Amino acid sequence: MTQKSIFLLILFLFFLINQFFCFDDPLESDFNPCNIDDSTCMPLEDFDQNCTCILLPDQKLYNVSDDVYLFMTGYPIHMSYISQTPIAELFRKKLSIRIPKAHYYDSSEPDRNIYRNLKISEKMALFEVSTDKSAIILQYLIENQFLRTEAITKANNRWCLEGECNAFLYESGTVNKSLGIYSHSADLLQIIEYRSRSIFAVSSVHAEFSVPVVQRLQCEHKCKVFYWNEREMCMKQCKLRLEFDLVSVTSDLKRNFDFFVQSSAIQNFRMKYRKFI
Ligand SMILES: *[C@@H]1O[C@H](CO)[C@@H](O)[C@H](O)[C@H]1NC(C)=O
Ligand SMILES: *[C@@H]1O[C@H](CO)[C@@H](O)[C@H](O)[C@H]1NC(C)=O
Ligand SMILES: *[C@@H]1O[C@H](CO)[C@@H](O)[C@H](O)[C@H]1NC(C)=O
Repeated sequence: MTQKSIFLLILFLFFLINQFFCFDDPLESDFNPCNIDDSTCMPLEDFDQNCTCILLPDQKLYNVSDDVYLFMTGYPIHMSYISQTPIAELFRKKLSIRIPKAHYYDSSEPDRNIYRNLKISEKMALFEVSTDKSAIILQYLIENQFLRTEAITKANNRWCLEGECNAFLYESGTVNKSLGIYSHSADLLQIIEYRSRSIFAVSSVHAEFSVPVVQRLQCEHKCKVFYWNEREMCMKQCKLRLEFDLVSVTSDLKRNFDFFVQSSAIQNFRMKYRKFI
């Protein structure tokens, strides 16, 4: 295959992934900073309708003299209508310093069987906008629940000053105490300004820890080796024992889960946008 057809194929794959394999919440599709600021530059992975500028990880521009089209909304748009902006070196440096290092968050292997059964929603974005629009865009992020911790969503938060923000925050709370459901949120927000352009780096994880779900899974795991009638008995005893042990066992799990939520916000962002930081 020629370089051109590989490029076309890649663009088409992005289109497919965006259209059919929606990993994220449906809410996420409503969030499009290009609708608020038409000078927004987005990485190709996140490119959306109404966007006209690709944020590049390096100085390697796509060759526009080729017949290269971007397939958005089902129609081909010639690349000559799309501008390209390599990420400023200053943005890259500041992001890589300010975003916590992934190795601080090397949690022990997460308990995937348990976490898979808990409600977890995750949102991430990296884009550059005109600095005049950055206050409206921050508000827009909050409205679309890209940021959920109270410390950052309240109007006068102390993490943003003179148009720049530098925050990594986590909070836990109670959703319904009698049902044993607790919430954990982690928000990463970086806004850096340079020459009237502002880069946004956002990563947010919100999750609910359900004590009954976790206990049921623990007992199922513990009892899965038994034959049916013994399994019933095993489950009964397991549940009974957990009720006595409740505080110690679940608070360990809950603490690990909280750490998992924080780690995910950092590690998944660093992984997805690794070429930019
Ligand atoms: C964005 O695109 C949609 C359809 O593609 C259009 O209806 C909408 O008006 C556009 N918004 C802006 C702000 O350009
Ligand atoms: C871009 O494409 C044109 C025409 O195919 C070619 O002549 C030129 O060398 C290419 N430039 C780069 C930087 O690859
Ligand atoms: C917790 O859940 C129970 C049972 O569904 C419900 O009756 C109660 O109102 C809920 N409490 C809160 C604070 O939402």
